[in-house]
Amino acid sequence: MKAITVTPGASGSLALKEVEEPVPKRGELLLRVLRVGVCGTDMDIVSGFYGQAPAGSPYLIIGHESLSRVERVGPGTRGFEEGDLVVPTVRRKCPEDCLNCRAGESDMCLTGHYREHGIKGLHGFASELSITDSSFVVKLPEALSEVGVLLEPLTIVEKGVGQAFLIQEARMKWKPKTALVLGSGPVGLLATALLRLRGLQVTTVARKPSDSLKAKLASLTGASYVDVGETPLSSMEDRFDLVFEATGSTSVALEAQNLSGTNGVVSFVGIYRSQAGTEDAGKVFTNLVLGNRVYFGSVNANLSYFREGVADLARIEKRFQGLLGRIITDKVPLSKWEEAYSPKSGDAVKTVLQF
Ligand code: BGC
Repeated sequence: MKAITVTPGASGSLALKEVEEPVPKRGELLLRVLRVGVCGTDMDIVSGFYGQAPAGSPYLIIGHESLSRVERVGPGTRGFEEGDLVVPTVRRKCPEDCLNCRAGESDMCLTGHYREHGIKGLHGFASELSITDSSFVVKLPEALSEVGVLLEPLTIVEKGVGQAFLIQEARMKWKPKTALVLGSGPVGLLATALLRLRGLQVTTVARKPSDSLKAKLASLTGASYVDVGETPLSSMEDRFDLVFEATGSTSVALEAQNLSGTNGVVSFVGIYRSQAGTEDAGKVFTNLVLGNRVYFGSVNANLSYFREGVADLARIEKRFQGLLGRIITDKVPLSKWEEAYSPKSGDAVKTVLQF
């Protein structure tokens, strides 16, 4: 079968390879992959900055955002049938089976020895067939067959937003009214949609003009859109109950904490490049203390966020009709696979490889 592979650490090693078909073992599912989304993490793996091959394999099959159909159910596997539309989670527990992995929350793994499909120590889903442990797979209704590949990025938002609510509701009475979303990539737009669904007034800020597709998609949810080219973050006067940082830019992340209001919360989901700063650390910490603020980071998502994500994907599809389909701007057939991993035009949002 055909698979998109890299030699981790080697830039320029991206290739379409003929590899052996996987065979599902006890408790596993063999999946016929329909679509694979491409994100910043994939591009970091392609550039050789990130990624780890499975033990004993010279290459890593990439791809962690996926949508598949069950091709074959492994022995002893229950709850699935051939043809089910499914999405597997990305992370699998550590060999030590730490406290959190044991509790089904490998997204909170303590040892760091977890494995991630298509990223770290486990082959991914950018191949005609793939296998995974059936206890980490969710089923999707047929109505989501066109947009279900957006489930994995939505789960990043489910966790980042969900944990903000958990933290805030545990520490005080909290009735948030306003949210600021930084970034209008797929994660920023999905965060905008989810926060609108939760009833918040949302402002989405990005570096695109107000007549760009990303701005239009944010507005489609009823959010206000601000182009930082016209209104720099430092000039924004409003302060927000919840700030969701999805640009992955270090300087924007530093600004983010200034934009949360009294008792506010800031959720960070990017991977930030190191940048020696001139930021006044004393000011940052005093702002944190005097405003009872919380700044926290969130990575990955466990099965519970995937389950919530399926329900929310259906709600978003119903409430903001056309939004999800328009987030998928580039559908690339396998025959042109290299295009999926090449730089895109300014109006591109999510690229999806179709198997
Ligand atoms: C994936 C997460 C993963 C993270 C770090 C993200 O792109 O969506 O599932 O945990 O990268 O590897």
